[in-house]
Amino acid sequence: MTISRILASGVAAVALAHGAAQAQQAPVIDMKAAEARAAATVKQMTPDEKVVLTLGVMPLPGFPGAPPPADAVPGAGYVPGIARLGVPALRETDASLGVSWVMGLRKDGATALPSGLAQAASWNPDVLYRGGATIGAEARAKGFNVLLAGGVNLMRDPRNGRTFEYLAEDPLLSGELVGAAIRGVQSNHIISTIKHFALNGQETGRKYVDVKIAEPAARESDLLAFQIGIERGQPGSAMCAYNRVLGHQACDSDWLLNKVLKGSWGWKGFVMSDWGAVPGVSAALNGLDQQSGVQLDPAPFFGDALKAKAASDPVYAARLDDMNKRILTAIYAAGVDKNPAQPGGAIDFAKGAAVAEDAAKQGIVLLRNTGNLLPLAKTAKSIAVIGGYADTGVLSGAGSSQVHSEGGPAAVRSLGGDGPFAALMSQQYHRSVPLKAIKAMAPNAVVTFRDGRYITDAVEKARQAEVAIVFANEWRMEGADQPDLSLPDGQDALIAAVAAANPNTIVVLQTGGPVLMPWLDKVGAVVEAWYPGARGGEAIASVLFGDTNPGGRLPVTFPASVDQLPRPKLDGSDWVEPNFAGDPAPGKDQLHADYDIEGSDVGYRWFAKKGQKALFPFGYGLSYTTFAGSGLKVAGLKAGFTLTNTGKVAGDDVGQVYLVGRNGQKLQRLVGFQRVTLAPGTSQKVNVTIDPRLLADWKDGGWTMPAGSYSFALGRDAETLSAPVSVKLSGKTWKD
Ligand code: GLC
Repeated sequence: MTISRILASGVAAVALAHGAAQAQQAPVIDMKAAEARAAATVKQMTPDEKVVLTLGVMPLPGFPGAPPPADAVPGAGYVPGIARLGVPALRETDASLGVSWVMGLRKDGATALPSGLAQAASWNPDVLYRGGATIGAEARAKGFNVLLAGGVNLMRDPRNGRTFEYLAEDPLLSGELVGAAIRGVQSNHIISTIKHFALNGQETGRKYVDVKIAEPAARESDLLAFQIGIERGQPGSAMCAYNRVLGHQACDSDWLLNKVLKGSWGWKGFVMSDWGAVPGVSAALNGLDQQSGVQLDPAPFFGDALKAKAASDPVYAARLDDMNKRILTAIYAAGVDKNPAQPGGAIDFAKGAAVAEDAAKQGIVLLRNTGNLLPLAKTAKSIAVIGGYADTGVLSGAGSSQVHSEGGPAAVRSLGGDGPFAALMSQQYHRSVPLKAIKAMAPNAVVTFRDGRYITDAVEKARQAEVAIVFANEWRMEGADQPDLSLPDGQDALIAAVAAANPNTIVVLQTGGPVLMPWLDKVGAVVEAWYPGARGGEAIASVLFGDTNPGGRLPVTFPASVDQLPRPKLDGSDWVEPNFAGDPAPGKDQLHADYDIEGSDVGYRWFAKKGQKALFPFGYGLSYTTFAGSGLKVAGLKAGFTLTNTGKVAGDDVGQVYLVGRNGQKLQRLVGFQRVTLAPGTSQKVNVTIDPRLLADWKDGGWTMPAGSYSFALGRDAETLSAPVSVKLSGKTWKD
């Protein structure tokens, strides 16, 4: 912890070009002082009071048990307070992309941020900070003091149904960005989580898939993302995951919770379970501090059930004291008790929309632009807009993270089905209309729209227009993975047909992760807009017409084929039913995911190791201008380089420094990055500090950075690298 704290991460030591300096000034979180105060409070607690904070319910109607408590706000969770000691009740809401909808029970709107991937594609911690600060303020205004945000699971499989919610495939990028988001959320004096701890890499069989991975590989990848995120964001809580790891439920894993999180990292916050993720009371001894959403578990293992244990077993008694101390530390550190959140606060939707729009603009990635088809001229005479509900709204992902923008969804396309979660499983469109925004950008153009259900009809319109813009959507949901990476609903055929009719065809992708593009060579331009949030239509139009020069870079690898992946067939995908609840079919709870195949070589690192070329590599993104990177120098753990705008318009570039060799061994790891804004013809020197853990291996219970020669390269993306520069570094070993 000390080493990594001193040596800032791979993000530049200098202020980011986007004015991050002021935005990152969150209130100081003093976990040590909070811990001391918490210990004093625990000493005053009666046996009855000691079990109150350990058990949370879902304050929603329709579930068995007592009705929601009077002071609960309809949301994900509620934990009673202890009035005698001034401990507030915890009112919990989802999630990382805004204050979640909870099936419309609160009949209120919230700012829908762009998806996690979209925000991560900005490679700008300030975007994540401002997003977190915005949704944290809205959570507080609705009466919540815990936001279940901070989803940071690495993308180990591009088919993961929750990829849209998460950030990246790389631990440094993921950790830096989630840390900034958490800092933003907690700047509102509410608690953020970081989740789902850990190795929750697929939705298929999510409650029982058993992940196999060697400790070094876990420490150098998924766990490192959490470790950096915790160092940067200091979340009050971590949410343990549904899946098993090495045969133990993550919420009952002594290794994950006691040995790694609380032991090795010395983390002082509290572990809350995911909803319905607790196998039994033993989880308390294995590091779980709070059972959440008890209605989804077989029984209340904590709460009163713990009281009996504590009364008869000193091990449980000591653990119960620690559980309370940790929960109280989080409450005090964030200032929750001194800044009580009450429902009925005002929400500044205009401010939230502006934050969402800026995030979308910074996260849109230009993937292809032949003949500079983009940006479109505002004097265009005729534009055919096709598909993707572009005349209605912009797509969002489903599940616990689903947000309803102000006024609710513009359209809902149900997947059908029944049961308590059926309503969640629907494609929802936020009220931001790309077609309207496009028309506003080209007021004199004849703009037609066809929904794309009938290819002939769409092709006819495309043929008649100067330019054809096809919106292609790929919807994802929590609880299920994508069967493959193709665009659904015949969109590939639609795109190919339109492109055959009009060479000036632009594809705007709204996807929850990487997709295949069999029509790629046939189209003029491709823009990845992800799920672009509350003002996604305006952001897309701004990029298409050049008011915004796209500066996004891929935070994940787009494979050319699933055959390139460590697991070409997703474990269990052929027999596990998509299932939000995640419960196994009888006798079918034996599912294994072998992450030792790739180990810590996730994403671009796997592609580099296997010599594979991606469809589009990690870090890739085009611009309406051109950039050059030069002068990479590395001295010790400091790297410096220069970025130059060699084109004719201002734009944002993202400098990426990769470790590419160590003592003659080829390897690839992102060790530093920074996004900068450059006027045409100008340059900026960038300095980054390299976190030594990125140069080291985990072995024998700590980090070992061997002495010797280290080679670094400046990357335009993970496959486009400068000539390497080598530097001799002394070796060292250390514990966390
Ligand atoms: C869900 C999700 C978790 C969410 C929680 C509460 O199943 O896995 O991310 O915060 O339950 O809704």
